[in-house]
Amino acid sequence: MRIGLAYDLKIAVPLDEASPEDALEEYDSRETVELIAAALTADGHPVVMLGGGGEFLENIRRERVDIVFNIAEGRGNSRSRESQVPAVLEMLGIPCTGSDAHCLTVCLDKPLAKKLAAAEGIATPQWQLITDEEDLSRIAWEQFPFPAIVKPAYEGSSKGIRLTSVVDNVGSLPAEVSHLLGAYRQPVMVEEFITGDEVTVGIIGNAPPLLAGMMRIVPRKRDGHFIYSLEVKRDYLNLVDYECPPQLADEVKERIALASLKVFKVLGCRDFARVDFRVSPDGVPYFLEINPLPGLGSYSDLVIMARKLGWTHQGLIQAVLEAALKRYSPCVAV
Ligand SMILES: Nc1ncnc2c1ncn2[C@@H]1O[C@H](COP(=O)(O)OP(=O)(O)OP(=O)(O)O)[C@@H](O)[C@H]1O
Ligand SMILES: [Mg+2]
Repeated sequence: MRIGLAYDLKIAVPLDEASPEDALEEYDSRETVELIAAALTADGHPVVMLGGGGEFLENIRRERVDIVFNIAEGRGNSRSRESQVPAVLEMLGIPCTGSDAHCLTVCLDKPLAKKLAAAEGIATPQWQLITDEEDLSRIAWEQFPFPAIVKPAYEGSSKGIRLTSVVDNVGSLPAEVSHLLGAYRQPVMVEEFITGDEVTVGIIGNAPPLLAGMMRIVPRKRDGHFIYSLEVKRDYLNLVDYECPPQLADEVKERIALASLKVFKVLGCRDFARVDFRVSPDGVPYFLEINPLPGLGSYSDLVIMARKLGWTHQGLIQAVLEAALKRYSPCVAV
């Protein structure tokens, strides 16, 4: 079986002068791509490096592959960017690991994903969506529960989320909102800030998807509001500890597990995903967002979690591939 690997390298994505400082945060390093390629070849399958963007288009037309292992984040800043590679593969009839184009778009649109989750009874923090600065004066903020976090509506890797992103009152909103609208060129969410444990959950497989693990991200310093912000993710070795399995009450873990699997199903995810929650002090898990294309580099949350549970990186990559192959088993040459 020839496996294509689709990815967007940081060094391959052009920036312009308007790009924010964290514009490349979601893209991968060569080291990550090589690690994944090594995990895939370990089973004896040749791996074809397809890259991303225009390079991917040229390579996928030229090379014959049986399936594509996709980690490409897509180009630009639209809410459908993660769908670019799966949409092309679907058009060409080539199998692909992970979720389809539709799911990737819905999940990157955080407000839309939250609406669908809430409709299924999953608790999610209250929010308001701001598309332009005038929206700020149209909203009845007196009913909104502060403190709130202000964040871009279609981002990942904590792009646009800093230690300064929590605002305590409506008076502090305009400055933060207009900064994000200008820098990230997309709508901004003002979301109820949930104080309490930060927990992320890994899910692998289909029919049924299984809970791979649950991990609490524990700040080393306990002062102020903890945010797993860009600054913290970049300096995670000094600023947080990863606790897996998390030391939470069994009933809280059970609630988190149920909510994770439900959200995976409701949003139509496939093969694997990572779901982020904040758990309020009374033990209610609040769904923040789901990542159907979670990072797979050595120090990504899902990989850290898997390692703590005794998996190798290779084992994790192969589990994702196997989940995809099972979906396609009648038509993929193994
Ligand atoms: N409503 C909220 N209440 C409390 N903390 C929040 C809230 N929203 C975001 N955060 C904090 O900010 C972090 C990043 O937010 P979020 O998961 O929405 O961003 P992301 O960029 O999609 O992250 P990822 O790296 O998982 O793709 C969360 O892990 C959490 O620590
Ligand atoms: Mg997150």
